[in-house]
Amino acid sequence: MQRIYLDHNATTPLAPAAFDRMAAILREEYGNPSSVHHFGQRAKAVIDEARSAVAALLGADPGEVVFTGSGTEGDNLAIRGAAEALEASGRRHVIASAIEHEAVLNTLKALARRGWKATFLPVDESGILSPDTLRAALTDDTALVSVMHANNEIGTIQPIAELARIAHDRRALFHTDAVQSAGKIPIDVKALGVDLLTISAHKFYGPKGVGAMWIRRGLRLLSPMTGGKQERGRRAGTENVAGIAGMGVAAAQAHGKMAGEGARLSVMRDRLEQQVLERVSGTAINGARTPRVPNTTNISFDRTEAESLLIALDLEGIAVSTGSACSSGTLEPSHVLKAMGFPAHRTQNSIRFSLGAANTDAEIDRLVQVLPSVVEKLRNLTRAPVRA
Ligand SMILES: Cc1ncc(COP(=O)(O)O)c(C=O)c1O
Repeated sequence: MQRIYLDHNATTPLAPAAFDRMAAILREEYGNPSSVHHFGQRAKAVIDEARSAVAALLGADPGEVVFTGSGTEGDNLAIRGAAEALEASGRRHVIASAIEHEAVLNTLKALARRGWKATFLPVDESGILSPDTLRAALTDDTALVSVMHANNEIGTIQPIAELARIAHDRRALFHTDAVQSAGKIPIDVKALGVDLLTISAHKFYGPKGVGAMWIRRGLRLLSPMTGGKQERGRRAGTENVAGIAGMGVAAAQAHGKMAGEGARLSVMRDRLEQQVLERVSGTAINGARTPRVPNTTNISFDRTEAESLLIALDLEGIAVSTGSACSSGTLEPSHVLKAMGFPAHRTQNSIRFSLGAANTDAEIDRLVQVLPSVVEKLRNLTRAPVRA
């Protein structure tokens, strides 16, 4: 069976060039980047090269980029590190949108268990956090605001520059989780005006288990990770040299291909949407159509349980998601759609389609060809009378 992968927001396949570079590094560059000798300095040079590529993707200075072990770790380091550094100031209030990834939501909840006040802000029905909502939630106690750049389930892009400005007006720091936007849309940390930003390699064809955090120069973080002086004391632990090199290659490729690939995917995504809306009754798009990352659409199917649809499509060889990978396998409604104010049934009947590099028009044709009958079959099943 020819399988079709439409779950690129969960993860992407490793770019062949990243794999080649990683294989070469694993074979040849075994030095510890902290070692002073030749072997160590070679490994350090590998990391420096990757740091420059990641910095270029973010419009940043390489000296402001810290490699981490994942997007989740970056979110933790940024939020906990900033919070801990600010604890002495007496400010003990953190704010995030209610549609953040668990990496942010649960980090704020952990701070709340330590006596911090955590506020989770609702979004409007298109998934956007309104600047007025943030303005109203900020107090003189607010130390940090964390709002994601693009949402993983619906792809909606937040007005980060404006939100960051509002937070700064109240002297609060601003972090953005850019895990789902990096490599998909242009990022310029200076134009965004944020203090901290997190990305993850495996969302843009790099390896899993590597990420990066951008920290505005001069910003003080108290890293929750204690140990050696790696990454200028921001992230202790011997670096994953091969993983970092793979991330560097993937970052450079994503940067180079962004405009062309973004245009190609958005045309394909829009066609998918239009055909599904036309061919399947009782369907609707969730979230703002713009601004949105080019590869993502989230569609609800009336009277169709999302988990069943996911399984039925998988049997047809088509891989999709009901939202964030962490919550699939459970029947929990999407916290994102819930925060957008959708009724319970709509938060449980939505499917995310996230496109990527290898997808073709023929694959989208196949999806829109099988979808109507698969949905119809499921709807008929639930309509059938229950036998004793
Ligand atoms: C928005 C967002 N933040 C953070 C993460 C976590 O990244 P990682 O898988 O590298 O820990 C993800 C992954 O799904 C994500 O989509």
